[in-house]
Amino acid sequence: MSGTQEGGGIALRNVTHFFETPDGPFQVLDDFTMVAEVGSFLALVGPSGCGKSTVTRLVSGLLTPSSGDILLGGSLVTGPRPNVGMAFQNPVMLEWRDVVGNIILPLEIVARDMPQKARVERARELLELVSLSGFENKRPSELSGGMRQRVSLCRALVHRPDVLILDEPFGALDAFTREELWLVMQSLRKKEQFTCLLITHDLRESVFLSDEVLVMSDRPARLQYQTTIELGTERSLKDLYSVEVTELLAHLRHQIEVAQGRIGSESQIIDS
Ligand SMILES: Nc1ncnc2c1ncn2[C@@H]1O[C@H](COP(=O)(O)OP(=O)(O)O)[C@@H](O)[C@H]1O
Ligand SMILES: [Mg+2]
Repeated sequence: MSGTQEGGGIALRNVTHFFETPDGPFQVLDDFTMVAEVGSFLALVGPSGCGKSTVTRLVSGLLTPSSGDILLGGSLVTGPRPNVGMAFQNPVMLEWRDVVGNIILPLEIVARDMPQKARVERARELLELVSLSGFENKRPSELSGGMRQRVSLCRALVHRPDVLILDEPFGALDAFTREELWLVMQSLRKKEQFTCLLITHDLRESVFLSDEVLVMSDRPARLQYQTTIELGTERSLKDLYSVEVTELLAHLRHQIEVAQGRIGSESQIIDS
C-alpha cells in the first residue's frame, strides 16, 4: 500500500479470523482485505454480527488474526499500541472524575512526562472543538448522551493518535443529536489529523462522514462492495437529500440486502 509509511494508514491483508468456541472454531472473517490511506475516513457497514467489531479489535491489536496481516502506518500490528484512539456506543466514564479528568486519562498512560497543565490545555482545546467549553468540571452523570459522546471523542483524540476507530459511537443517539455529532466529527476532522475507521449501521452517516464506504458480506465476512463518496469536503446535512445521494443510498441499501442474503447479487435496483 502506498502512502502509509509514516503516520497511520490502515491495511488489512487477506485477514481470516476464527474464534475458538466450545463448539469448535467459529469463522468470522474470510480473506478480508481493505486499505485506508493516511488521513482518509472510511465507513464500514454490514449485517449485524458479520464481524465489524472484530475488525476494530484486530486493528487496535486487541485480537490477533488467525491468518493475514494488519498494518498501521506500514508496520505490522502485534498488540495494542498508543497511536490508536477508540470510541464506542457506550463510553465508559469514571464518575469520580470530571470531564477534563476523563478526557486526559489516555495521556496519563501514554504521555507520562507531559505536565498536567499541558494535558488540561489539550483537553480544553478539544472541548472547544466539540462545543463543550464550560463543561470542563461537570461529572459524567451530568451530561446528556450526545455530550457524553462528544467527551468520548475528545478522549479518543487527546493523545493525537494516528488512527481513530469509531465503533457505532452515535448509534444510541436520537436522530437530531446524531446529526449534530456528525457535524462535530466533521469539524474535528478539519482540525485534527487522523485516519478514521467508522463502523456504523446508518447509511446516511456513512455517506455524510466518509471518503469511502465499504460493505461487508455476512459472516464469514469478505469485502463485498466499496464505493468512493464524491461529495467534497464541505458537506452540509442538506446534501443528504440530493438526487445523487438518494441514489447512492438506495444502492448501498441494495448492497446491504445482498449481504443479508435477502436478494441475489445479480438483481438490480431500478436506475442502477
Ligand atoms: N470472543 C468471541 N468468541 C466467540 N465469538 C465471538 C467473539 N466475539 C464475537 N463473536 C461472534 O463473532 C461474530 C461477529 O461479531 P462482531 O464482530 O461483534 O459483529 P458486528 O460488530 O458486525 O455486529 C458474532 O457472531 C459474534 O457473536
Ligand atoms: Mg459490533
